Amino acid sequence: MRVVEYRGHGGPEVLALAERPLPECGPGQVRLRVAAAGVNRPDVQQRKGLYPPPPGVTDIPGLDIAGVVEAAAPDVAWPRPGDAVCALVAGGGYAEHSIAPALQCLPVPRGFSFIEAASLPEVFFTAWNNVMDLGRLAEGETLLVQGGTSGVGLAAMQLALRLRGATVLATSSSAAKQAVCRQMGATGVVDYRDADWPQQVRALTGGRGADVILDSQGGDYTQAELDLLAPDGRLVLIASHRAPRAEISTRDIYIRRLTLTGSTLRARPPAYKGRIAAALRAQAWPLLEQGLIRTLVCGVHPLADAAAAQAVLDGNRQIGKLVLAVAPDAASVPGG
Ligand SMILES: NC(=O)c1ccc[n+]([C@@H]2O[C@H](COP(=O)([O-])OP(=O)(O)OC[C@H]3O[C@@H](n4cnc5c(N)ncnc54)[C@H](OP(=O)(O)O)[C@@H]3O)[C@@H](O)[C@H]2O)c1
Repeated sequence: MRVVEYRGHGGPEVLALAERPLPECGPGQVRLRVAAAGVNRPDVQQRKGLYPPPPGVTDIPGLDIAGVVEAAAPDVAWPRPGDAVCALVAGGGYAEHSIAPALQCLPVPRGFSFIEAASLPEVFFTAWNNVMDLGRLAEGETLLVQGGTSGVGLAAMQLALRLRGATVLATSSSAAKQAVCRQMGATGVVDYRDADWPQQVRALTGGRGADVILDSQGGDYTQAELDLLAPDGRLVLIASHRAPRAEISTRDIYIRRLTLTGSTLRARPPAYKGRIAAALRAQAWPLLEQGLIRTLVCGVHPLADAAAAQAVLDGNRQIGKLVLAVAPDAASVPGG
């Protein structure tokens, strides 16, 4: 099968097409004929050597896929061969065929193309795990999303709005991206390049602060974000692009009963991810099918052009998700 692999670490020039043997399903797994695959920031981090695949996981990049099941282990009740699904995978997405744990599969939402379906798993699993589970966002609370037009940010904002009736605030770096944040439901958007962005966010909360903050920057943002939390607030870190270390006031944590937490999803076992899949299927998938939650696909590239897709991420030019069209039927709606 054709795959895209990394030949060393570096810029998009290390991506290369290659031939690899067809992967075989183990217990609890299915093999998809991949129609489309998502491109995510962690793929870029892996390319740079900053986010290696967990032990035992293929070195082929790609964390989400959509396609048709072509083989399933005997112990898998669903999905079965012929089913159109999308799936979260720990690697192997940039390929014509890919293995997924059955627990991490979800049906392609009714009316969605494979391209749209491939844009969903990584960002919705991540947003659910961090905002709903770890962040414990409750009805009517206020959520601040750093980088509102990131794939994860857009998913987080919409889950918060539609499932928690939350007030959503976002940061973003350009007028165009800020407009998209507002269109997607953010009631206040702040440019994080303004030195006084924390004061601007605080003003938007009427001085109270946010209940949950979802952040991928870390470093010097961390204390600013702790300062921005309301009493009992939760700061959830999903990356540390600014710096892995931060100096913080531990006093703030016990005086205002704050929670500082975070996660990476990739190395968690299928049973853990399967619980998130079940929650998404029950609560978010119906809203996607009703058009109440949307996915924003800002670019589609052929598998052979995966380097061009990653270059868009390198330039931070994406708004929402980039997807690879792997098979000729990538744009088709299964059963449509
Ligand atoms: N822990 C996990 O399990 C997990 C899983 C998936 C992704 N992630 C992380 O989650 C983040 C989003 O992933 P993605 O694939 O959706 O990313 P993405 O589309 O590449 O978006 C990156 C975002 O970071 C924002 N950003 C850059 N510099 C910033 C700053 N100084 N302050 C605030 N925001 C800033 C960008 O905002 P502008 O575009 O407005 O500049 C952009 O929205 C990434 O950091 C990724 O590494 C973590």
